[in-house]
Amino acid sequence: MTTKPRSDLVHAGQTIYRPWTLPVYDLVAFKINCRFLFRVPVSEVVALFDRNVSPDHLDVGVGTGYFLDNCRTAPGQAITLADLNEHSLEHAARRLARFEVKTVRANALEPLPLPKAAFGSASMNFLLHCVPGSIREKATVLDHVAACVRPGGRIFGATVLTQGVPVGAAARVNFRMWNRRGLMNNSEDSLADLRTELAARFPDHKVTVHGCTALFEAEVP
Ligand SMILES: C[S@@+](CC[C@H](N)C(=O)[O-])C[C@H]1O[C@@H](n2cnc3c(N)ncnc32)[C@H](O)[C@@H]1O
Repeated sequence: MTTKPRSDLVHAGQTIYRPWTLPVYDLVAFKINCRFLFRVPVSEVVALFDRNVSPDHLDVGVGTGYFLDNCRTAPGQAITLADLNEHSLEHAARRLARFEVKTVRANALEPLPLPKAAFGSASMNFLLHCVPGSIREKATVLDHVAACVRPGGRIFGATVLTQGVPVGAAARVNFRMWNRRGLMNNSEDSLADLRTELAARFPDHKVTVHGCTALFEAEVP
């Protein structure tokens, strides 16, 4: 458990994404972390995007834009990228320049400065485990993202949990270190709490677990 003030933790959750770290993010995140620590096939996350992305999509917590670059998209695809970190926004916008891209700098723990009910879908992939608080507290992110999606639209993402899922020994050591440094904030994140928060908001939702990663998808009521 960390004793850093909350604003420091919010800052720490995005600070590693820099011009010199983003070029190696895909290699570390998808070839090493997903495979050996999170134990989630990257193809399952691409399939999650394939199932849920609409022609006017909002992505919150963009990283390098890997999944939107690799998933099925529509002709004239519009993508709005929202992130607290300007380097992530610039990197992902460059990568996705073949689409109609807009960027907005925003903290997902606060209401997003975007039009309400304007998007057909929104993703928050590998975002929740970066933001501080219990799952109950960080579920405000679900509210802020869902507020931007039209009724009947889709919200989805993946997050790495530490309670109620199998966590390997190497993962446990790394998660403890990353939580101490504030790079990850998931030391209390449980599958049961995630299910509860999703069920409280979205009557039609689905959670799929791979390793210690939960993939969730829901219809916005
Ligand atoms: C682990 S990366 C995930 C990137 C990408 N979605 C993926 O699946 O590879 C987390 C991203 O969330 C952003 N982020 C972290 N905390 C945030 C917050 N409070 N509000 C908005 N974005 C945040 C980081 O800057 C980073 O781009």
